[in-house]
This record gives sequence, structure tokens and C-alpha cells, in this order.
Amino acid sequence: MAHYKAVIVGAGRMAGTIDDECVDYPGVALPYCHAAGYAAVPEVELLAFADPLTDKVRSLQERYGVPRGYEDYREMIEREKPDIVSVCTPATVHCEAVLFAAEHGARAIYCEKALCCSLAEADRMTEAVESRGIKFNTGTLRRWAPGMEALRGMIEQGDLGGLQAVITYSVGGMLHSASHFFDLMLYLAGDPELEWIQGTVTDGDFDPAAARWDNDLSGIGQFRLSNGVMGHVLSTGLWAEFAAIGSEGSVAIMNNGVEFGLRRREPICGGKYYEFHPAEFPPYERGSATVRLISDLVQALDTGGETRQGIRRAVNTAEIAFGIIESHRQGGARVALPLARRDFWMHSH
Ligand SMILES: NC(=O)c1ccc[n+]([C@@H]2O[C@H](COP(=O)([O-])OP(=O)(O)OC[C@H]3O[C@@H](n4cnc5c(N)ncnc54)[C@H](O)[C@@H]3O)[C@@H](O)[C@H]2O)c1
Repeated sequence: MAHYKAVIVGAGRMAGTIDDECVDYPGVALPYCHAAGYAAVPEVELLAFADPLTDKVRSLQERYGVPRGYEDYREMIEREKPDIVSVCTPATVHCEAVLFAAEHGARAIYCEKALCCSLAEADRMTEAVESRGIKFNTGTLRRWAPGMEALRGMIEQGDLGGLQAVITYSVGGMLHSASHFFDLMLYLAGDPELEWIQGTVTDGDFDPAAARWDNDLSGIGQFRLSNGVMGHVLSTGLWAEFAAIGSEGSVAIMNNGVEFGLRRREPICGGKYYEFHPAEFPPYERGSATVRLISDLVQALDTGGETRQGIRRAVNTAEIAFGIIESHRQGGARVALPLARRDFWMHSH
């Protein structure tokens, strides 16, 4: 049944152990980590892990019954000749591992978020992946979550009227955490082009004169998309909560996607005024976003078609992060996207 060979670079939490942390977390539908995700997709066989920490490699091999382990991911990719390469290292290693996988025969890559630490890295990764027709997704998993998919379907069908705004109520590190949130906002908005952004970096010790920052900066702001939808990046303390607001209805996404609060605009006072009244969000079946992401890669390999995300949509999450920084550097100016300046680098783990 399995006809695609996979390997995993990095043998840490997202590679194989994070499920243990989320057993009682309703916001995550297991399996969550890459190894458990591959085990649930019959078309894929996981052949090896690579990590300089060999104890972690051995432990995951045992746990998932994976035949081989390596210290060096380059050797693993050269020997195993995998169809699919997962990159589960810290973000500082994503670019080099994706480039190596792309240059050594990978046909599909599942790279963890954050995609990278600079737009220059993003450009190199895009060229390497697109020039070879490699199927590509990153671990911004809300894009594959069934509830989010149901909401995007409602928006596409005009069920909320014309979409006006997508909102995130939390940011955290703009690469590490908000890459998830920015990707969800873009997905719900229908993946239009980015037009412009205005923003403020909220870290007290931010040095706007630098071009390289050793911490994953946080920020707030707003961006406009080519379909007229506005994205509002707020930092309010409501962690992993979001909203999509249309002319005829709105949906509040609460508790990291566990609850969807739909309200519909209805006339009152004989149509003189309007209120938004609670309504039932349509039922959907819970399911693992990781498994659905991997299945998306498999269908793209099977059909030669595209994945739901692809590398350019992943790059957009970094455009927003670095766009907020560049706007702040220019005193809050409105900055055109994609950003002209590509060399800013920011650490992300
Ligand atoms: N999608 C999600 O929801 C989600 C959740 C957690 C983490 N992540 C992402 O997953 C990635 C890994 O995070 P984690 O929490 O699993 O970290 P971790 O520290 O548990 O694991 C990372 C592993 O990568 C290994 N590594 C580092 N350099 C390497 C190299 N050159 N070659 C091979 N292995 C190398 C480390 O030794 C470590 O074992 C990060 O990019 C993080 O943002 C995503």
C-alpha cells in the first residue's frame, strides 16, 4: 500500500513526542507530530530519522518501529533517497535542510514553521522548490483543520456576506507563533495577494537600526489584501483566538479553534438598525490536521497537482512579520508587500 518513502530531519518534539504533551488539549486533534502522522497515512512509509543527538533518534526509532537512524541528515537523504522529507529542526536550520533535500531528489517537503529566518532564505527556498516542482507544505496546521476548512467554505459561499476583515487576537514571536496565525488569516481570506502593511514592533528593547535580531520579535499592525480584505494583527492576551467578519455575519474562533461563535446580521426596529445575533456554526468532523496535511502532499504527488499551501503562501507569513518590522523602522509608514528589503534576519527556534 505504501508507495512513498519518508524521512524526518530532527528527532525532537514535533518529529515524534509532542503528542504526549497534548493528550488532554482539545485544541489539538491527534496525531500531531510528523512520525505519528506518517504512521496514520497508509500511502507513506517512514524509513529514518536524523539528529546529531543519537539517543533521541534511537528512542523515536523504537517508538515508531522505524528501521534506520542517522546523525547527519545529509547522509540520510543521500542513502534513503526519500520521496518526502520532513524538516523538524529549529527554524535556523530549515533553509539549509530544505535546500539540501530539494537538491538531492526530494519530491515533497513538509517543513516545520517558521519557514525560515529571513526573506532572503525564503527566496532561495522558493527557487529550489519551485524550479523542481517539489510539493511543499509547512506546519501552520490550522490551514488543514476541519473547523477552519468549514469556515473558509462558508466565506467562499458568501455565507458571511462580503468578507471585510480577518483578525488575530494574539501574536507572540512573529516567526514562531504568528506564522501560524498569519497563515490562518490568509487562508480564511481566500489566499489573495498581499498589498501593504503598517505595524509596530512591541518588544521594548527592539533596535530598529539593526538588520539582524537575536530574538523572535513581536508586533501589531494591519495589512491589506488584494481582494480588499483587511488583516488586523492584535496582541490582546486572547491566545490563539481569531475572527472573520463579513457584511452579513461574523465568526469568532475561540480557544484555539475548539469553539466557533457564529453571529448573523439581522434587522431590528423595522430595518432601521441591525444587530448580530448568535446562530449555530455548521457541524464538522474533528480530525488531525497533521494527517490531512500529509494526505494533501500525497494527493499532490499522486496527481501532479498543487498542495493547499505551497511555498509562496508560506513565504507570505514571513512577509507579514518582516513587513511589520520594516514599517516600524520607517516610523509606522505604510509599506508595500512583498517587501523590497530581503536581508533582515530574525532568530526563531
Ligand atoms: N506545527 C506546530 O504546531 C509545531 C509545534 C512545535 C514545534 N514546531 C516547530 O518544529 C520545529 C522543531 O521544534 P521542536 O519543538 O520539535 O524542537 P526540539 O528541540 O524538540 O527538536 C528539534 C530537534 O532538531 C535537532 N536538530 C538541530 N539541528 C539539527 C540538524 N542540523 N540536523 C538534524 N537535527 C537537528 C535537535 O537536536 C532537536 O532534537 C521548530 O521549527 C518549531 O517551530 C511546530
